[in-house]
Amino acid sequence: MKVDGVPYRTIWLDDDGWSVRIIDQSRFPHRFETLRLGDVDDAARAIRDMQVRGAPLIGATAAYGMALAARADPNEDNLAAAYQLLLATRPTAVNLRWALDEMTTALTRNRPADREQVAYARAAEICDEDVEINRAIGRHGLELIRRIADLKPEGERINILTHCNAGWLATVDWGTATAPIYMAHDAGIPVHVWVDETRPRNQGASLTAWEMRGHGVPHTVIPDNTGGHLMQHGMVDMVIVGTDRTTATGDVCNKIGTYLKALAAHDNGVPFYVALPSPTIDFTIADGLAEIPIEERSGDEVARITGLNAAGFIDTVKIVPEGSPVANYAFDVTPARLVSGLVTERGVIAPNRDAIAEAFPERANPI
Ligand code: MRU
Repeated sequence: MKVDGVPYRTIWLDDDGWSVRIIDQSRFPHRFETLRLGDVDDAARAIRDMQVRGAPLIGATAAYGMALAARADPNEDNLAAAYQLLLATRPTAVNLRWALDEMTTALTRNRPADREQVAYARAAEICDEDVEINRAIGRHGLELIRRIADLKPEGERINILTHCNAGWLATVDWGTATAPIYMAHDAGIPVHVWVDETRPRNQGASLTAWEMRGHGVPHTVIPDNTGGHLMQHGMVDMVIVGTDRTTATGDVCNKIGTYLKALAAHDNGVPFYVALPSPTIDFTIADGLAEIPIEERSGDEVARITGLNAAGFIDTVKIVPEGSPVANYAFDVTPARLVSGLVTERGVIAPNRDAIAEAFPERANPI
């Protein structure tokens, strides 16, 4: 996507040809800064501290983290340590484990002398594949939006609600939930996006709104609790969100608060879609509630709010009384029964074991 007319991805190789550059998302929306990752520790820190975030981008950054590790020392012990370091950064997004396994497969097939080159090539491929997956998700999701538009009087806006940021900043490019929105907007369909602010880290208010504004998509930022009210009043035509891990049976784990949106959508007959790149499917588990590890983050993220102060510096203020305990569960699970469809790179599929396995037989039944 373009930033001030300049095309960007969220991660790329720096001019030296080996170090990695990312957009530092911890500074959004106040500053647009890039950051150099020079070794595997930098990559792990960027993921842990959420300078990069969003399931597909976490995976892409981990892939380059393995390439940086292979450059430093391509022997098994070092690569195994790098794998464990990166895997421990964030527990919920399964793209992390997927990307690390992809890298390990590529690395262990080759002699140590060839591993650096193989690792950079596979990391670049993972990034390119992500872009193509999201483009395909966009095309399939666009058809869903078109269908809704066809049922409305000519020119009436289509209201789409999204939660958190499953946009291009969460991926290498395009985004998952946002790809259909960008394509619909570019095709002249009058979309308007309700952007959930997404407390406590405000990925909606600070990232999705920034993206929408940058692409010229009409949008409105709303407090997280507004969605139900809007749906009751016919002001939402469709919900589309991303996911950090979806089970083989279609249970969807995503940013905390997604489940409440799905409940409200179900109660009001609003279609609830999940944009789902196949590396986000965890074919090893069937019960999302019991089996998906939910990240718990620092209570400071709840107790404090970050923004620009009057002097123009990024600052935080406390909003919870001293001594009040806080809880910060980062994700929740929406059961498959509340999901209208999974928008994948291979089409829109039903959230159930058979449909998912039929769409991705090579992953569901590995040879
Ligand atoms: O904690 P975050 O910002 O990494 O959470 C991101 C989300 O929940 C996204 O919806 C999900 O990763 C899908 S991104 C295409």
